[in-house]
Amino acid sequence: MTSTDSTTDTTSPGTADGGPQRRAFGIDVGGSGIKGGIVDLATGLLIGERFKLLTPQPATPSAVAKTIAAVVEHFGWTGPLGVTYPGVVTHGWVHTAANVDASWIGTNAREVISAELNGQPVTVLNDADAAGLAEERYGAGKNQSGLVVLLTFGTGIGSAVIHNGTLIPNTEFGHLEVGGKEAEQRAASSVKERKGWSYEKWAGEVTRVLVAIENAIWPDLFIAGGGISRKADKWVPLLKNRTPVVAAALQNSAGIVGAAMAATVDVTH
Ligand code: BGC
Repeated sequence: MTSTDSTTDTTSPGTADGGPQRRAFGIDVGGSGIKGGIVDLATGLLIGERFKLLTPQPATPSAVAKTIAAVVEHFGWTGPLGVTYPGVVTHGWVHTAANVDASWIGTNAREVISAELNGQPVTVLNDADAAGLAEERYGAGKNQSGLVVLLTFGTGIGSAVIHNGTLIPNTEFGHLEVGGKEAEQRAASSVKERKGWSYEKWAGEVTRVLVAIENAIWPDLFIAGGGISRKADKWVPLLKNRTPVVAAALQNSAGIVGAAMAATVDVTH
């Protein structure tokens, strides 16, 4: 099936096991790109291709909402829709804006985006929360019960906390103070790049952040996400914290998949 011949139904008969196939649409909003795709919720796999447009600059609510609408229209999708946002979102309300325009703060993302889509219902959740939901159900945390913490290492550090499948949203561990410094200023992958650090040096900073988190909430597993998780073999073995750390498995589809998972449920309370 191609990305453009999707139906608007969220159920359709005919999966391999004869059960109904549940589908939802996910959109991942990042500082540079806005990408979307149809997700098979039985498997966590994309149905057809992803479609990506550049994030408009400045990334204001109305410009981003229009780009989201263009991605949705590309697929002709009218079913459940989940959208990630790179900051704190509670019940659709945006509270922070690090890599998008500051005018997002105080807006209701759910309403702004829905208005561009003729009132189609939309769920909006934090980007790392979406990735965590997806990794926990279909990816690196699939067989793990208990408390899973996903961290995304990129421009900043995003976090997701999931307990036996239930997300505790908006944890924002990237902004924890660790040794007198915000965790993301200490150990985001952008810091490594900017300072020209080796993996050894950077892994020391990541360890400090992981230890601060594990001393506070004692997870069973950390999942390391973000672009640098593709090179996990170069730095995960260098970490010296006590909780096991595994690399994210879904790579750059995790945000889309997690957004689609959230599409029918409000996970942003
Ligand atoms: C934001 C988080 C976000 C993360 C990754 C942080 O700076 O505070 O909300 O999840 O960046 O985009």
